[in-house]
Amino acid sequence: MFLVTGGTGTLGRHVVPLLRETGAEVRVLTRQTIPGHLTGDLETGLGLDEALDGVGTVLHLAGTAKNDDRKATHLVRAASRAGRPHMVYVSVVGCERIPVTGAVDRAMFGYFARKRAAEVVIENSGLPWTTLRATQFHDLAWKVAEAAAKLPVMPALAGVRFQPVDTAEVARHLVRLALGGPAGMRPDLAGPRVYPMAELFRLWLHATGRRRAVLPVRAAGGAYRAVRDGAVLPGPEADLGTVTWEDFLKTRA
Ligand SMILES: NC(=O)c1ccc[n+]([C@@H]2O[C@H](COP(=O)([O-])OP(=O)(O)OC[C@H]3O[C@@H](n4cnc5c(N)ncnc54)[C@H](OP(=O)(O)O)[C@@H]3O)[C@@H](O)[C@H]2O)c1
Repeated sequence: MFLVTGGTGTLGRHVVPLLRETGAEVRVLTRQTIPGHLTGDLETGLGLDEALDGVGTVLHLAGTAKNDDRKATHLVRAASRAGRPHMVYVSVVGCERIPVTGAVDRAMFGYFARKRAAEVVIENSGLPWTTLRATQFHDLAWKVAEAAAKLPVMPALAGVRFQPVDTAEVARHLVRLALGGPAGMRPDLAGPRVYPMAELFRLWLHATGRRRAVLPVRAAGGAYRAVRDGAVLPGPEADLGTVTWEDFLKTRA
């Protein structure tokens, strides 16, 4: 039995059907009340013992901007009380390289520190584990561009580059890892091309037929400097997907 946390999310909606296609029995955890899903909350621990009962592999995809370490802590505690399943976790490229110290760092890049803290919870859990760090999903880049376009000018972090990846490719990768044995920290997974943030926005504007000026902005703090210096780009051993931002824009727009 596989348990998917975050099975209702952007990534999870790709992962769950792929897993089911392999003939696997899949249980989905959500905070919502959805027929055929199990209701629980990783922030409080509610419903987790029931969710983990009889589970051999957990795909832990649930995540928010805050507290992913707290969610991981509740999950590994429940997993340790249950059958000690294989924990497959999705994290984010660069989370171990972005120093989050001051208030500006926390407000803008606190997510990365919490992802690293969640990785550590899983690594130190004593459970068998596999972690995949992915770069930003195309779906996220789209959401960020859409939100920025609500402003009169689109602010883009100066000097910052991203290598976004297609969500479906991340899902396929994770399903392969979940069907295999515990493999520890896997090579990063990224898309095929690097784009300055301003270029991501310009391509989005072109694809959606909108007109906006893109304004480069600088931020304070060590986390921004690390990101500007390439901390969110994958390492040299990374696995690369094939779907570019332009390919994604063609299908999505
Ligand atoms: N988006 C990216 O670019 C990106 C890049 C690298 C890594 N990741 C990681 O990939 C994972 C999936 O991201 P996503 O974009 O698919 O996220 P998403 O669309 O925002 O979905 C978040 C999921 O987390 C679940 N969730 C949130 N809080 C929960 C809680 N307290 N208890 C139980 N479930 C909870 C939600 O379920 P309900 O609302 O149904 O409860 C939902 O299914 C996250 O861990 C994220 O950090 C994302």
